[in-house]
Amino acid sequence: MPSRPRQDLWNRVDQRLEQLLIRPEENLSAALESNRADGLPSIDVSPLFGKLLGMLITISSARRVLEVGTLGGYSTTWMARALPKDGHLVTLELNPHHAEVAQANLARAGVLDRVEVRVGPAAESLRKLQEEGAKPFDLIFLDADKRSMPIYLDWSLKLARKDTIIVADNVVRDGRILDADTKDEDTQGTRRFLELAGSNPHLSITALQTVGIKEHDGFAIAVVVD
Ligand code: SAH
Ligand code: DHB
Ligand code: MG
Repeated sequence: MPSRPRQDLWNRVDQRLEQLLIRPEENLSAALESNRADGLPSIDVSPLFGKLLGMLITISSARRVLEVGTLGGYSTTWMARALPKDGHLVTLELNPHHAEVAQANLARAGVLDRVEVRVGPAAESLRKLQEEGAKPFDLIFLDADKRSMPIYLDWSLKLARKDTIIVADNVVRDGRILDADTKDEDTQGTRRFLELAGSNPHLSITALQTVGIKEHDGFAIAVVVD
């Protein structure tokens, strides 16, 4: 089908992979529909990426998870479902309406017992977590405003321990990260995040480009090495 636009092909491949790999009992499309019905932007992680986040939790036996950027709790639900019953997930969201929709989705999915949604600017919530003496998190997922990624990286390191996994979404954005002269603060934040994380001796980090229903983008995975 060489005349079809690539995006159409990527969409169809994602759909096929979802059909083959996401089991009916783990399907969370109702949450996505509820997010759209409530007017939330369509920027949740893809189902296949949500599943990967859950699998990273399973593989690493993570019990304490921190998420920055809740939206309607779609990625939150994938991660919370992978936690043991006594696991705990803290998710940070600026927008009270998003947080409210997320609470409803998390309750419907039966995981609200494991999840705490904190409303407010993430940088403040992160500071408060540290002031409270929060125990280190085992996995941290950064997916809020991209201009603040360098700040979120700093806080992540403070709230981490050796072997903590840090996942960062949207690190490619259709290749915009190549533009050193960009005026776009989100792109600048992502570029700076990659520079800082890539040169931090306490982190081992890689990133992969992705294509699919989220177009051309990518994610980074880092682990705290000491
Ligand atoms: N992780 C979600 C998608 C998050 S979208 C999922 O995959 O389902 C990004 C979210 O970050 C939005 O809900 C937005 O309101 C929130 N956000 C933006 N700026 C923020 C800030 N300064 N602090 C906390 N959350 C913020
Ligand atoms: C945007 C944010 C995201 O986290 C994402 O996955 C896709 C798009 C955005 O702000 O446009
Ligand atoms: Mg994202």
